[in-house]
Amino acid sequence: MKTKIFNTSRTDLLKASELIKSGDTLAFPTETVYGLGADATNKLAVAKIFQAKGRPSFNPLIIHCSSIKQIKTFAKWGSEAQMVADKFWPGPLTMVLPLLPNSQIASLALAGLQTVAVRMPEHSIAKSILQLSNTPIAAPSANPSGAVSATRAEHVVSRLDGKIGGIILGNPSKIGLESTIICFLPEPSILRFGAISDTDISQKLGLNLKKTVENSKISAPGQLSSHYAPKGSIRLNSKVFEKNEVSLGFGEVLCDLNLSQKANLTEAAANLFDCLHRLDEIGAEKIAVSPIPEEGIGIAINDRLKRAAAPKKI
Ligand code: TXA
Ligand code: MG
Repeated sequence: MKTKIFNTSRTDLLKASELIKSGDTLAFPTETVYGLGADATNKLAVAKIFQAKGRPSFNPLIIHCSSIKQIKTFAKWGSEAQMVADKFWPGPLTMVLPLLPNSQIASLALAGLQTVAVRMPEHSIAKSILQLSNTPIAAPSANPSGAVSATRAEHVVSRLDGKIGGIILGNPSKIGLESTIICFLPEPSILRFGAISDTDISQKLGLNLKKTVENSKISAPGQLSSHYAPKGSIRLNSKVFEKNEVSLGFGEVLCDLNLSQKANLTEAAANLFDCLHRLDEIGAEKIAVSPIPEEGIGIAINDRLKRAAAPKKI
């Protein structure tokens, strides 16, 4: 398959949205990570996402929308959802809502669940594609299943060229970590740590979010124990690096790659996946990572690192 490459001009965005309308897959930038999108109402288009990613079909996708009006056509929109949208949308937060009966969303995108994860991205290119295609877009992160998420167009090109319909060459994703996922039923909970911290959500909403237990039954791949994994083995919380290790530092340390020399967690989040990609590129077999403070977005960074370090089940 020949993958079409688009720039971010209006003409190219129009052509790219035509791909979505015609039932093909398109990788596009968002503020969190690059997404691999397809028309969520078209089951063949959604099937192409699973095929390109090699994603287990029990993993449901996030449905990206350009308006609340659009979401209300397929999901139950309550006062809690409205409150969250008022505070955090458009932006890096995903809500799991009850699915309306007879919704137009392909059930393959939802892995047959009666709930649907929705997000309204803030990124101008993601917004343009949503508006121009005029349909909800199912979009997981644009990486082969289980591998490191893409935060730069070149990550997508190197892993998915020839397997998808098109790629928009945008700038690197600003945040660099996936959206935070929350749900309200059976009680307000956080399903995936992400760009927005749970304390921020709890404070702004006056809610006490329950944290889902690792390996609990919810089928969120972001909760699978091995995920976001580079090829080499990873040793976490390393204050000292061994000679045979490639070191991924944080703060003022002597190391091969540094997440943030200034020990800035936001910068570290934006660099994390790119560093993991680079470790693969240089063929790192043993990787050691500095301790990362467990606060704010550091919680999401540590969550991704733990999964990257978990034994791979092949
Ligand atoms: O930042 C993001 O969220 C990016 C960009 C592209 O928007 N997308 C992303 O998608 O990270 P993906 O497919 O890599 O992760 C989707 C997560 C998975 O953990 C999935 O299990 C969860 O959302 N999910 C989707 N629908 C769900 C549902 N109905 N209930 C619980 N979890 C759900
Ligand atoms: Mg992903």
